[in-house]
Amino acid sequence: MKNKSLICPSILSADFSQLGAEVKSVLDAGADMIHFDVMDNHYVPNLTIGPCVAESLVSSGLKFNLDVHLMVKPVDSLIEQFGQLSPSFISIHPESTEHLDRSLSLIKSFGAGAGVVLNPSTSLSTLDYVIDKIDMVLIMSVNPGFGGQSFIPAALQKIEKARSLLDKNNSKARLQVDGGIKIDNISSIASAGADTFVAGSAIFGAENYKSVISTMRQQIENNN
Ligand code: DX5
Ligand code: ZN
Repeated sequence: MKNKSLICPSILSADFSQLGAEVKSVLDAGADMIHFDVMDNHYVPNLTIGPCVAESLVSSGLKFNLDVHLMVKPVDSLIEQFGQLSPSFISIHPESTEHLDRSLSLIKSFGAGAGVVLNPSTSLSTLDYVIDKIDMVLIMSVNPGFGGQSFIPAALQKIEKARSLLDKNNSKARLQVDGGIKIDNISSIASAGADTFVAGSAIFGAENYKSVISTMRQQIENNN
């Protein structure tokens, strides 16, 4: 069963020279969670921001749900650092840890929701022995590493399969999708079974964040 829909702007496409103001603007515009993409130029070929940036946003007084997407290898030490910031979710790629089950337990030890991220070529069967442990499945609809890429159409079928798998296992985990989500494809992503939507360039590339987020919400509701 789908959870209440959540829209999560990815700050990867924000103006980093005024990150605090950008986060405040998307929150005022109706964002449900702030998606925080952490890249290490090793697991993925790009380098972004880490725990000290998240810490300074948190301690600036902004109140928000932090949705951490770790694209780093090794991953456990960053789970520990982000875990201190009371995030809503920390999601990790199975390829980034030698011991997925243990890394998921580490996330949960901080009281955060544990997410598993599946790259376009990563099989859903990766979830088989951890499904009872996860609070979110994140289907990548682009190869991780960069904002502004195009949605890979084959992701839709994978989202449908992930939805069936979660339902069959009576899992209440969120089904999140990340990469290339726009106003004109979000309804098909919702109807495939997603309930949690990451969007970077579609939101931060627009003049009016509120109008994009509201239109996305309407598009999702049309399919619920
Ligand atoms: C890609 C990141 C995404 C990215 C999404 O590796 O995980 O969160 O910022 O950006 P858009 O929405 O522009 O594809
Ligand atoms: Zn992401």
